[in-house]
Amino acid sequence: MAATLPVNLHEYEQLARAAMSEMAWDYMAGGGGDEVTLRWNRERLDATRLLPRVLRDVGTVDTRLTLLGLPLPFPVLLAPTGFQRLFHPEGELATARGAGATGALYTLSTPATTSLEDVARVAKAPLWFQLYVQRDREFTLELVKRAEAHGYRAIVLTADTPVLGARDREQRRQLELPPGMELPNLRGLAGRGDEPTFQHGSRNPFLDPSLTWKDVDWLARSTKLPVVVKGVLHPDDARLALEHGAAAVGVSNHGGRNLDTVPATIDALPAIADAVAGRAPILFDGGVRRGVDVVKALALGAAAVMIGRPYLWGLGAALRHRHLQLGHEQLHHARAGAAPRALSTRPAEAPRRDHWRLGPGARSHHRYSDFNLPHVSRAAAVTPQSFGAPGVGAQPVPFGGVVPV
Ligand SMILES: Cc1cc2nc3c(=O)[nH]c(=O)nc-3n(C[C@H](O)[C@H](O)[C@H](O)COP(=O)(O)O)c2cc1C
Repeated sequence: MAATLPVNLHEYEQLARAAMSEMAWDYMAGGGGDEVTLRWNRERLDATRLLPRVLRDVGTVDTRLTLLGLPLPFPVLLAPTGFQRLFHPEGELATARGAGATGALYTLSTPATTSLEDVARVAKAPLWFQLYVQRDREFTLELVKRAEAHGYRAIVLTADTPVLGARDREQRRQLELPPGMELPNLRGLAGRGDEPTFQHGSRNPFLDPSLTWKDVDWLARSTKLPVVVKGVLHPDDARLALEHGAAAVGVSNHGGRNLDTVPATIDALPAIADAVAGRAPILFDGGVRRGVDVVKALALGAAAVMIGRPYLWGLGAALRHRHLQLGHEQLHHARAGAAPRALSTRPAEAPRRDHWRLGPGARSHHRYSDFNLPHVSRAAAVTPQSFGAPGVGAQPVPFGGVVPV
């Protein structure tokens, strides 16, 4: 009998497209400029090849990890996405419930259509809070303190959005929140001289284009929560993030929604893994759609991945529980197929270029003091191969097993 539920995330995309308004669809699916980076994210993941090893006892596959002190069932997190009530009447509440049903960590966005307090009330899995630093730093700090007070476990500072990208699809649809839908996390900002409406470009009152690394210092000093700097593509920025107090680095190009023609995230990841050199966990997002994509990101140095659009497809299609489970099943399959015995602890020294080529007898025996990363480690059997990718600085990114041609 034919399956009645979707068997992969792409099928949810089709269901969501049929269910969503054109405005919601274009807001969700669109990218910046000519959407070149949006396409690259997927194309470069597809072009990264897995070279499996066989006969390595994959009878037990363990996908658990500890990330910034949080035990998680699998290394797939929900990325912050705004305006979710455009996709489903319950918006962020539905996402939080779906995440709770599977134990997935959910990162609530500053421009959520539900307050961080209401989301915290329904959450059963850990929450992080994504921060767009406001021009009004006092208001920003109050927002961070609200997140702390309501049990959020990290602040994800988005660094790649000094201005919103040139999003033609949104402009054509004249994207705006329908009457009755608002951004409660930013309530009160209007009273301080800013108008909480949605606008493109540098006029957007929710974004502060003057943000610098000093603000990261300020944030890290001002909160007891770990700070994740999201939106890093250059290895020097990854180093700076750690120097300025970040506890983790998010390799992201905002799902191809901002500056167009920046590299695909999978091409930026290896050089950033080298720069971070095991000092902090790396999060990866952009185009992750299957378990094999997760395996590739982990093999190239990520501790965990985030997905954006796929869970919005689930939200739009109102089938939110099943699609997260699907992701987990796929990760099991991909893990087993790629043949590492279990997710093991990452070696503490800088990743070596031959890291992924070591043979079956090799073992990971180092531990981090502050976090354990599931990682395709010395026992790994995966060789990601990348072919001719324009990486950071338009050079092919060199890495063990990468064969630029
Ligand atoms: C509809 C939508 C809204 C988003 N809103 C935010 C946001 O408010 N803050 C943020 O840091 N990133 C935002 N992002 C970017 C995501 O956090 C993430 O980087 C991206 O979606 C990952 O790529 P993927 O959609 O291909 O999985 C948004 C993405 C989408 C699709």
